[in-house]
Amino acid sequence: MLTTFGKQTQQQSSPSSLISIRGSLLFLAILTLLSFTYLSLKYSAPTPQYSVATLVDAEVKHAVPEGEKEEEFSDIYHSPHVFKLNYAEMEKKFKVYIYPDGDPNTFYQTPRKLTGKYSSEGYFFQNIRESRFRTDDPDQAHLFFIPISCHKMRGKGTSYENMTIIVQNYVEGLISKYPYWNRTLGTDHFFVTCHDVGVRATEGLPLLVKNSIRAVCSPSYDVGFVPHKDVALPQVLQPFALPAGGNDIENRTNLGFWAGHRNSKIRVILARVWENDTELDISNNRISRAVGPLVYQKRFYKNKFCICPGGSQVNSARITDSIHYGCIPVILSNYYDLPFNDILDWSKFSVILKEGDVYQLKKILKNISYEDFVALHKNVVKVQRHFQWNTPPISYDAFHMVMYDLWLRHHTVRY
Ligand SMILES: *[C@@H]1O[C@H](CO)[C@@H](O)[C@H](O)[C@H]1NC(C)=O
Ligand SMILES: *[C@@H]1O[C@H](CO)[C@@H](O)[C@H](O)[C@H]1NC(C)=O
Ligand SMILES: *[C@@H]1O[C@H](CO)[C@@H](O)[C@H](O)[C@H]1NC(C)=O
Ligand SMILES: *[C@@H]1O[C@H](CO)[C@@H](O)[C@H](O)[C@H]1NC(C)=O
Ligand SMILES: *[C@@H]1O[C@H](CO)[C@@H](O)[C@H](O)[C@H]1NC(C)=O
Repeated sequence: MLTTFGKQTQQQSSPSSLISIRGSLLFLAILTLLSFTYLSLKYSAPTPQYSVATLVDAEVKHAVPEGEKEEEFSDIYHSPHVFKLNYAEMEKKFKVYIYPDGDPNTFYQTPRKLTGKYSSEGYFFQNIRESRFRTDDPDQAHLFFIPISCHKMRGKGTSYENMTIIVQNYVEGLISKYPYWNRTLGTDHFFVTCHDVGVRATEGLPLLVKNSIRAVCSPSYDVGFVPHKDVALPQVLQPFALPAGGNDIENRTNLGFWAGHRNSKIRVILARVWENDTELDISNNRISRAVGPLVYQKRFYKNKFCICPGGSQVNSARITDSIHYGCIPVILSNYYDLPFNDILDWSKFSVILKEGDVYQLKKILKNISYEDFVALHKNVVKVQRHFQWNTPPISYDAFHMVMYDLWLRHHTVRY
């Protein structure tokens, strides 16, 4: 049998058939090259969009029934139908295994607190534990969560050097104890950190930075954020002091607003250029509590646009504050991979400017027509639910959006 097989193979590889094989291989190579060129041209759109999602789109477009709630899924999404269907599949199938190791009273498993600037981290830890996505069976898991809270470590006064060592020891412990990390060198693992100190503390393990999915609040390139791999966590300062804004256009009589510390170059310039302006309400100091209760927050209700320049990091809780209070956020950053920007079309509910535009700020904002302003404002109200954490989590809230981003980044190859 074996010899016969060998003979047949030999016969097939006669000189003439070899030439034709070479010919067809060349043809195939050219075809592949052409289709790649076509695809890369097709997908070099300015807004990031996943080719996976686009491929699904082609298959499912006609399968979507004309639902009553269709309106909800319009405008603000890059691909409303794809989002709706993929999201439903994610809710049904997505499973995450949380490593059970580590003493919950130190830095593991439990969040520090659900308030303050970095509460997104705490909410995520709490939400995933009480969500349908958690599985105790690693064989069912699409992704593995490394539950180490750098925010909590910081709260306990751990030095930066010690934090790096703790993270390293913990993750190396998981690598030697369980078989899961080595199967993919960590590409199906993720961790979550809102404080930028967490990003730095994980840098002791290059594979953690390079391979695993990092869900971080400061998604700028100077902390090595990789948009197709990592996830931008929205920074949300909850609980909100006042109720959400909406249907209140008549009260938004002022053009633009910002009040805060001058802790970055762009903030210094913003304050210097516009501090005395009569239409832009720009103040280079936080509004003192002595002025009156919640004066800062109430200002968000009175303005059409709320200016959000980066501070010590590109991110700022001001963006989600603006969204909550119904004020159109004006992002003033050169490099900021905005949260969920592979799902949501930020140009539909915000104004995105480069730092250099600060000198033309008033001209740019006054140039936005009343109709465009109304449309932006209505869309801000539509996205509010995506930028809010809840306990327990509810569909389409910040937690579910982060889960959806993780779902988009999980690889279909199972081991
Ligand atoms: C850092 O770790 C060392 C050794 O465990 C410990 O003695 C020291 O107190 C720690 N320092 C801080 C600031 O956590
Ligand atoms: C994973 O690989 C590392 C490095 O090769 C090794 O030290 C570790 O023991 C492996 N883990 C398991 C569970 O085999
Ligand atoms: C507009 O502002 C007034 C005064 O602060 C307030 O009473 C009213 O409820 C606001 N209107 C809307 C639609 O929010
Ligand atoms: C704003 O007004 C203050 C006080 O009158 C003045 O000192 C400052 O130079 C003014 N700033 C600009 C940019 O005109
Ligand atoms: C004003 O808006 C028009 C049309 O929307 C645009 O072409 C123009 O560049 C804008 N000008 C400025 C200064 O933003």
